[in-house]
Amino acid sequence: MSESQASSMFDSQLLVLFLLPSLISLLLIFIIVQRKQASFNLPPGNMGWPFLGETIGYLRPYSATSIGDFMEQHISRYGKIYKSNLFGEPTIVSADVGLNRFILQNEGSLFECSYPRSIGGILGKWSMLVLVGDMHRDMRIISLNFLSHARLRTHLMREVEKQTLLVLSNWKDNSTFSAQDEAKRFTFNLMAKHIMSLDPGKPETEQLRKEYVTFMKGVVSAPLNLPGTAYRKALQSRSSILKFIEGKKDERIERMKDGVEYREEDDLLGWVLRHSNLSTEQILDLILSLLFAGHETSSVAIALAIFFLQGCPSSIQKLQEEHNEISRAKKQSGETELNWEDYKKMEFTQCVISETLRLGNVVRFLHRKALKDVRYEGYDIPRGWKVLPVISAVHLDSSLFEQPQRFNPWRWQSNGARGSSMAASNYYMPFGGGPRLCAGSELAKLEMAVFIHHLVLNYYWELADTDQAFAYPFVDFTKGLPITVKNIAFSHE
Ligand code: HEM
Repeated sequence: MSESQASSMFDSQLLVLFLLPSLISLLLIFIIVQRKQASFNLPPGNMGWPFLGETIGYLRPYSATSIGDFMEQHISRYGKIYKSNLFGEPTIVSADVGLNRFILQNEGSLFECSYPRSIGGILGKWSMLVLVGDMHRDMRIISLNFLSHARLRTHLMREVEKQTLLVLSNWKDNSTFSAQDEAKRFTFNLMAKHIMSLDPGKPETEQLRKEYVTFMKGVVSAPLNLPGTAYRKALQSRSSILKFIEGKKDERIERMKDGVEYREEDDLLGWVLRHSNLSTEQILDLILSLLFAGHETSSVAIALAIFFLQGCPSSIQKLQEEHNEISRAKKQSGETELNWEDYKKMEFTQCVISETLRLGNVVRFLHRKALKDVRYEGYDIPRGWKVLPVISAVHLDSSLFEQPQRFNPWRWQSNGARGSSMAASNYYMPFGGGPRLCAGSELAKLEMAVFIHHLVLNYYWELADTDQAFAYPFVDFTKGLPITVKNIAFSHE
């Protein structure tokens, strides 16, 4: 044996000796985890392929008004609580209303928000969706302040109506267009105005909107950071959007230094600069993620309402009665703009909103993980496991909602002859729940109600082509929901 061979043998022996304790520890941990898991009473289920688990089946697109074949088959085989391997992690999936509520209400103590790492990569590490603990609480306080009830009643109410009218004023009699794109334009303009005082239609707002479309395609795509992928393009758009927001922030700071009084003081950017000590990075991620949270979800909800209503003429008729009445009373009192009292009169509209969110399920499931070993109704949820409360499965559960696949706004009426609204509201969680309940739920409902008000007062509409909403799992209309509109005023001439 040569000297160099002997030395390399000695090196390998040393390496083995050096690594041995770590290898033994790893083996021990593995055995302990296996033993512990064997002693757990896990729910039934199938862990699928190594690493991939059952993720591909779980994410296969399906009609948004259903729970999809995967869920249906798993529930019928294993029950409403089952185990699986999803997004690369052992997971407990819950279609059970009690467990879902238990998970959301024990946020921070037994469970914690845990979105896939790619979401943090694109929305930013300071995005509210990925933050936990004190930092989440601080950001939440800022968002709730910005979306407070007082601001909704005054400032936002006016702005929502203004932006609705702006979008609807472009709908020419007998024209055909994508209702989903129009809903997106409306909610984007509203958020851009409210967050950074950007005016709709201006070149800079349009530029930002275009970047945002690319950004969104990446948020919902596979997180592959390779040349040409939607994810890579979205990361580039993220940088451009952040640069834009930073420019707006610097401009604002300059004007604040000059002591100039400015009317935009009321927007989120102004508020954060004046009242918080967030770093630049935190401000940019907060603004980006609020723009995301506030624009994607409510635009899909409005498109779904347009879709469901055209399939249910009796609900359009009932809405027209309600809104004609409000409009008549306003004309009599000489007022033009909608106010909070008008909004409170929109009772059937609220039923339409609830039913749209129940049946359409804009957000279908949430991402959580167990912080401790948790026992629920005889089943164990091991610490560190992913937990998915599937809110759509509860909303479409035939043991909780009569004929769940039917669009029936009357089920939400307090004196509802066709279903009990009290019982229904106990199972209803379109905005999540617990300490992370959607911060914009009231704004979203206001947007939908004001949009519906002007829609049913001014237009008849029908589908220009068959279309359907799919869950990818984000909800999207395959063809963008093409509709043809007729102006009511012209139809009566
Ligand atoms: C129909 C429309 C909407 C739906 C269905 C919806 C749904 C949800 C859901 C389910 C969550 C909880 C996520 C989780 O627990 O993991 C959430 C959180 C959130 N939503 Fe919405 N949302 C809507 C509109 C809005 C709007 C208009 C805003 C306004 C900017 C907004 C801002 C937020 C924020 C900031 C959070 C994070 C709350 C937190 O982590 O404390 N949402 N939303």
